Amino acid sequence: SSPQREVFVSRGAFIFAAIGSAVGLGNIWRFPYVTYDNGGGAFIIPYLVALLTAGIPLLFFYYAMGHRSRGSAPLAYRMTHKAAEPIGWFATGVAIVIGIYYAAIIGWAGSYMFFSLKESWGDNAEEFFFSEYLKMGDPGISLDFVPAVLIPVIIVWAIVLVVLLMGVQNGIAGFSKIFIPLLIILFLALVVRSLFLPGAAEGLDALFTPDFAALADHKVWIAAYGQIFFSLSIAFGIMITYASYLKKKTNLTGAGLVVGFSNSAFEILAGIGIFAALGFMATAQGVEVADVASSGIGLAFVGFPTLISEMPGGAIFGFVFFACLVFAGLTSLISIVQVPIQALRDKFRVSNKASTAWVVGVMAVVSILLMPTVTGLYALDTMDAFANNLGIVGSAVLAIIVVAWLLRKMPVFSRHLNAVSSFKLGPIWMALISITGVVLVYMLITQIIAYATDGYEDYPPLILGVYGWGMIALLIVASIILTLVKWPKKTIDDMHEAI
Ligand code: PHE
Ligand code: NA
Repeated sequence: SSPQREVFVSRGAFIFAAIGSAVGLGNIWRFPYVTYDNGGGAFIIPYLVALLTAGIPLLFFYYAMGHRSRGSAPLAYRMTHKAAEPIGWFATGVAIVIGIYYAAIIGWAGSYMFFSLKESWGDNAEEFFFSEYLKMGDPGISLDFVPAVLIPVIIVWAIVLVVLLMGVQNGIAGFSKIFIPLLIILFLALVVRSLFLPGAAEGLDALFTPDFAALADHKVWIAAYGQIFFSLSIAFGIMITYASYLKKKTNLTGAGLVVGFSNSAFEILAGIGIFAALGFMATAQGVEVADVASSGIGLAFVGFPTLISEMPGGAIFGFVFFACLVFAGLTSLISIVQVPIQALRDKFRVSNKASTAWVVGVMAVVSILLMPTVTGLYALDTMDAFANNLGIVGSAVLAIIVVAWLLRKMPVFSRHLNAVSSFKLGPIWMALISITGVVLVYMLITQIIAYATDGYEDYPPLILGVYGWGMIALLIVASIILTLVKWPKKTIDDMHEAI
């Protein structure tokens, strides 16, 4: 049977789905610690520069690609040029890698919803997270499973399967329509509660006091671009895929602005709420906010549990906080998984349901084999670093070099968008894409050198070799092999009809 192309019935459905994808763990879990680690208040400057000059312009770029071709990432690239197809597979591969570990973090958050109600961590939150919950072993590779982590990860994949089998409109858009408003209400309640905690002001000071010297550090700029890309879900093929489900006459740029600004608003709100809460905790313990804002993964799963144990009404606060992480994470995860699902449909002409079952099945198995083990955290952290700093940036660099510079598609894209959109794009947009290209090339080279010379987090070469460099190499090889597979004639015919 020939697969039916799916659609979003309205622009509203698309906007909900796109916000569902954008607002995720990146906003609640990643943004606050990235901001804190990179100059606090001063980080807002590179962050806004990256949003306005790179994030939103690239969002439009990918919308144009997806909407024009009405196809998955590989098909959309294939339509710009035969030789560009591997870029689409590479972006699809990055989405797969991210989905594999992202599911695990959602699983942890699910466990912590219930831990919040019964655990009293006191000062032991760190030991609890790493030793009791994750049962972390020495860095290496092992198949020693941790049942307490395994079960939530399986549940996450089961939910993803059910939602995606319901299709783009009923599943993806329907799920986001329920959970995004719920998330906003619950999260606003948390932020307001945090702002009334004693010491909240100290936390906000710590977050927003600008360290302007940080602006001279190129790492801070790299972090800002990285955060914007991750947070807007660009360069993973998601925006190409979602835009391909839109009807011909859709105001794309208007939708893009709504999505871009909603995501950043949510992110800054999360920063405020989380730091207000950390301010309370620091005050209660009589220490500096800097001491409690333990960086990275620890912020949500160590800092927050400590806080929950200390504040009045902490159990409910914690339950709601981790529920927010779960809702935000699930709506993003379904968007990630839709990228390979659509790619498989287009290239192999399998039915919608079969493609969904295959993709979710394979990703779930890999995720379940790698993540809930005593060494899962090393895999997760390495995959996160390499997929974001090399994978996403690499995918965006290739898109700009090949599609914008070599194939000169920008005028075509701007005509396409302007024909259907309210906010018109012209020379400034094209210039911003080119400047972004230059910035990204620089970032990518710096990052490759940094990982090659300094490694990452002192992890042993085996870990970096497998989950970092090996993973990137596998994506490149797989992208080339998949490109060599011949396209079904039907897909090519549809494609000619689309342009
Ligand atoms: N944008 C999501 C967030 O901020 C993360 C995400 C990454 C979603 C990749 C989809 C794809 O958490
Ligand atoms: Na986001």
